[in-house]
Amino acid sequence: MKIAGSIALVTGANGGLGRAFVTELLKRGAAKIYASARDGASLTDLLLSAQDRLVPLVLDVTDPDQVANAARTASDVTLLINNAGYAAFQGAISAPNMTSARLEMEVNYFGPLAMTRAFGPMLANSGGGAVLNLLSMLALVSLPMAATYSASKAAFLSLTRSMRAELASQHTLVVGVMAVQTETSMGINLPTPRMTPLEVVSDALDAVEAGTNEEIYAGSLTRGAFQAFSADPKAFQARMSTRLPQQA
Ligand SMILES: NC(=O)c1ccc[n+]([C@@H]2O[C@H](COP(=O)([O-])OP(=O)(O)OC[C@H]3O[C@@H](n4cnc5c(N)ncnc54)[C@H](OP(=O)(O)O)[C@@H]3O)[C@@H](O)[C@H]2O)c1
Repeated sequence: MKIAGSIALVTGANGGLGRAFVTELLKRGAAKIYASARDGASLTDLLLSAQDRLVPLVLDVTDPDQVANAARTASDVTLLINNAGYAAFQGAISAPNMTSARLEMEVNYFGPLAMTRAFGPMLANSGGGAVLNLLSMLALVSLPMAATYSASKAAFLSLTRSMRAELASQHTLVVGVMAVQTETSMGINLPTPRMTPLEVVSDALDAVEAGTNEEIYAGSLTRGAFQAFSADPKAFQARMSTRLPQQA
């Protein structure tokens, strides 16, 4: 689908990749962008960049009432970008409790599930449209220092594949974006070198425009990591398994 003339909704639009999505969507000629965030005030500077095409929306993807309200308000969306995410960077066993693990599943799995269920019917009405899901290489390989985040992204990858199959009959494209460490608030917890948000976002939106109805590997670092993973998945996992959570 073409980005020019599209009507997009970006979750977590105040974050590193979220802001880059909004900026790049504007550059590529999106007609309207619902920039959503939990805290509306965090969008103030972003909204100044294109007041005529940006619509702010308060949206916590874990809140069913706010998701329903977003679907009512943004009923003309043709491109849903499930970008919001949360990573506690904790171990599975060493974390003090399971609160963060549950929150990761709420934000990274149940959130995009709720959003796609709410927005699916309106995408059908627009002739198909597209859903773009921000996954992670950690959906394919487990990083013990972000154990429960990895598990939540693996769940999201599985969900993405089922969504793609279910939405195919209404011609909705479902693009899953794999990415490795990127320079954002979340990414600063990961090793250098890191990709720029623009590199990830450009490849993701190129995939939407090319009609790539599958997972893509965004950015050169991600493609390098995927090559190494594909060459020897066990060796790749063994390397990741050396990165253990920090002990208190
Ligand atoms: N950075 C990386 O290295 C990397 C690599 C692979 C994949 N990803 C994925 O890329 C996506 C964007 O992350 P980022 O790197 O841009 O990190 P970020 O700068 O920390 O942004 C995360 C965004 O998600 C929002 N968010 C968290 N919980 C939410 C909720 N319940 N409802 C709505 N929004 C919520 C945050 O909003 P608040 O400001 O309100 O917390 C923030 O806008 C995530 O899905 C992440 O898993 C990132």
